[in-house]
Amino acid sequence: MKIILIGFMGSGKTSVATEIAKIKKLTMVDTDDLIVEKAEMSTTEIFDQFGETRYREYEIQVARDIRGLQNHVVATGGGVILNKIILDYLREGGGVVVFLRTSFDEIVRRVIAHDRPRPLFTDKEAARQLYNFRLTLYESYADHIVDTDNKNIKEVASEIVDKT
Ligand code: S3P
Repeated sequence: MKIILIGFMGSGKTSVATEIAKIKKLTMVDTDDLIVEKAEMSTTEIFDQFGETRYREYEIQVARDIRGLQNHVVATGGGVILNKIILDYLREGGGVVVFLRTSFDEIVRRVIAHDRPRPLFTDKEAARQLYNFRLTLYESYADHIVDTDNKNIKEVASEIVDKT
């Protein structure tokens, strides 16, 4: 059993993955955290010092590191859909991909409410363009789509548990 959560920054992947892991007694892993561990620097530092391309390389590497993993819930970074190889690695051995679909207005509210720095969310209009561009990519990888607007973490998690 493996559940892979994808979606834009602020869609709640990490929080929902933690909740699903609790309910289904699975282990939660977050690809962003694995990158920080591997690089021994923060996401922002990687972007600032080496640029987005380097971050995407790390993303591919950690997906390869955890290929074939079972009994896990995987929270991903919002950009994993940019390189198909990442989803190929993450789905190895089987895995259900769930897209946490959140409206852009709700994303803005959540990102402002949290103070975690997000290098690709410094400008709202640029982020909106990124969101519009990525939407069909998330949809194309998803086995299930769960809308998260007006729902709390527990509600989203139990909806996913019911579907998977
Ligand atoms: C990114 C999303 C971030 C992180 C990095 C790039 C993106 O993860 O991987 O800042 O390209 O959307 P979250 O979606 O967990 O914020």
